Amino acid sequence: MKILSVTTSFCLLGVAASVDMSRYSAGPGVNPGFKSYLKELYASAEDPSATKTFTNFFTTDGQLIVLANTATGSDQIIALKQELLPQLGNKHWNHIPNVTTIASETSAKKTYQVLGVIETTFDSGNCSQAYYSSRFTVTKDASGLPQLTPHAGNLVSYDDFVVNPSKSPTSIACGS
Ligand SMILES: *[C@@H]1O[C@H](CO)[C@@H](O)[C@H](O)[C@H]1NC(C)=O
Ligand SMILES: *[C@@H]1O[C@H](CO)[C@@H](O)[C@H](O)[C@H]1NC(C)=O
Repeated sequence: MKILSVTTSFCLLGVAASVDMSRYSAGPGVNPGFKSYLKELYASAEDPSATKTFTNFFTTDGQLIVLANTATGSDQIIALKQELLPQLGNKHWNHIPNVTTIASETSAKKTYQVLGVIETTFDSGNCSQAYYSSRFTVTKDASGLPQLTPHAGNLVSYDDFVVNPSKSPTSIACGS
């Protein structure tokens, strides 16, 4: 029901973006709250007009890393986001995350690893997909719990360390 209502509200907004959590699976140690955190993070990433609603996930010196590009702090993060997904709104992303595991954990931070597929559609173009591996590092609170409130300045890094193929459109049709 929840997924249906979220999908509906995206449609009502006329936004072609969507986050498909149907293939999401959480391995040992992945906090239940990470699923909705990830979904909200992707929804903000997929919104071409989102600036603060995306950067407010990050710590002040948080980083968005996409392969060889590293953006540090909100100004650079917005610039990199807009380079990848133009504000014009003529390019659309759909994230379809699947296997989610813990990459590392310290007393201060926890890093989740997420695999998945990203679909890219250009207006008047085709829909093509790429395969990704990402790591998300969040801060922990004083009691040692990872901070998984969306839009609350707890994301230390969002690191897309694999995007294959790296350039879109790709030659792989969506849904293959
Ligand atoms: C998860 O996505 C990756 C691509 O990043 C893919 O190679 C893998 O087969 C998918 N796994 C599952 C269980 O769907
Ligand atoms: C999508 O279009 C691009 C550019 O026209 C082309 O290079 C690519 O192979 C196409 N991909 C698919 C999956 O049809």
